[in-house]
Amino acid sequence: MEKLEVVGGKKLSGVLKISGSKNASLPILAASLLSKKKIKLINLPQVKDIKTMLTLLESLGSRVKKVGKKTIIDNINQKKTEANYNIVRLMRGSFLVLGPLLAKFGKAKVSSPGGCSIGVRPIDIHLNALTKLGVNIKIVDGYVIAKAPQGLKGAKIRFPKISVGATENLIIAASLAKGTTILENCAIEPEIKDLTNFLFKIGCNIKWISKRSIRIVGVSEINEATYSVMFDRIEAGTYLIAAAVTEGNLKIKNVNPNILRSEIKILRKIGSKVRIKKNEIHIIGNKNIRSVNIKTAPWPGLATDLQAQIMVLLCRGNKKSTIQENIFENRFMHVSELNRMGAKISIVGNRALIKGNTKFAPAQLMATDLRASVSLILAALSAKGKSVINRIYHLDRGYENIEKKLKKVGAQIRRLN
Ligand code: EPZ
Repeated sequence: MEKLEVVGGKKLSGVLKISGSKNASLPILAASLLSKKKIKLINLPQVKDIKTMLTLLESLGSRVKKVGKKTIIDNINQKKTEANYNIVRLMRGSFLVLGPLLAKFGKAKVSSPGGCSIGVRPIDIHLNALTKLGVNIKIVDGYVIAKAPQGLKGAKIRFPKISVGATENLIIAASLAKGTTILENCAIEPEIKDLTNFLFKIGCNIKWISKRSIRIVGVSEINEATYSVMFDRIEAGTYLIAAAVTEGNLKIKNVNPNILRSEIKILRKIGSKVRIKKNEIHIIGNKNIRSVNIKTAPWPGLATDLQAQIMVLLCRGNKKSTIQENIFENRFMHVSELNRMGAKISIVGNRALIKGNTKFAPAQLMATDLRASVSLILAALSAKGKSVINRIYHLDRGYENIEKKLKKVGAQIRRLN
């Protein structure tokens, strides 16, 4: 099993280019199934979750080819409608193929993704909304078997709770439904806006009609198109925090700073100097980190995917801080490992109480999920001495070339087999 060795205590300094967004690429790749032609995508990140999605598309009959910077999805012979457990179990985002398969073929059999280390993660919102588009759903042997023999029919649907995945699945499905669909109380994360920009580009009739409502008029055909996926705002946020936690000096390029405004506000509050240019954020970390109380929330609030990383920073704060996790009930798996490094964090319900003034000590560590893994790297970068992070396959699911990028800005980090 691969591990990462980090010798911490060095200030990160230099320039980093941010990769394409994993969480925008996944729904866009799923939506490419709507097409019977070729879709060309640019800026897909080279990470394991994207490889898993491409393997899933191939298992459904798509042909995938990489030509230079473009990934070409050729769906001319894409006819299969079953997404197998062996692939879906590797990544929850696989469930996003349900919407496009149903829209294109009127049927789909997709393994139910189950929970994971950050929470129970049910799929009821996806399934209830799809039934409103005229889909019959049964769950048999762990598979969602969905049928709409007459095709999908547009409907007005209000999501009972904001869900990124359910919003994506429904927007994609409604794009080929007969008639008009109005979706209300949608998630409006930047990745969803990227998906709707992509759908617009391939010929879907789609329009945001208010902050959280979208109108989709089903079309009968999808055009060929080339689309460049947005930058990874979570990767960008992670490196900004890495600079803050090591009192470093980093320029983050290939970003839209406006998309990171909640995170930049917090970084400024804790005392980092943050300067913004059109496609660049420059951060200078400070020695004395001020404590703050924060909570995660759907966009435009603070991303839950940055909660673990910010927790590392707040451990170094001058007083007590709290983090309220409002999206995933169990997303505190990193806490016990951070405490083993000297942090003083306790959990009460969905709140982490962080004592502050922690000097992280190096340790042998075990990663539990993608963002927990990276938070351990951040703590290890701050700890003087050698830490080893085990079970890093989680990290490879979502961070492109992380060691290479961190090394480039002065981190001492290497992969051990
Ligand atoms: C997406 O997951 C992201 N994944 C997650 O990123 C991210 O943490 C999450 O959105 C929240 O921003 C991808 O984009 C591939 P949700 P998703 O549906 O769509 C509950 C990362 O680290 N819910 O918005 O699965 C759910 O349990 C990952 O990159 C239901 O109750 O998240 C949660 O409490 C991890 N029923 C809340 O809604 C449902 O049917 C929000 O989940 C669906 C969700």
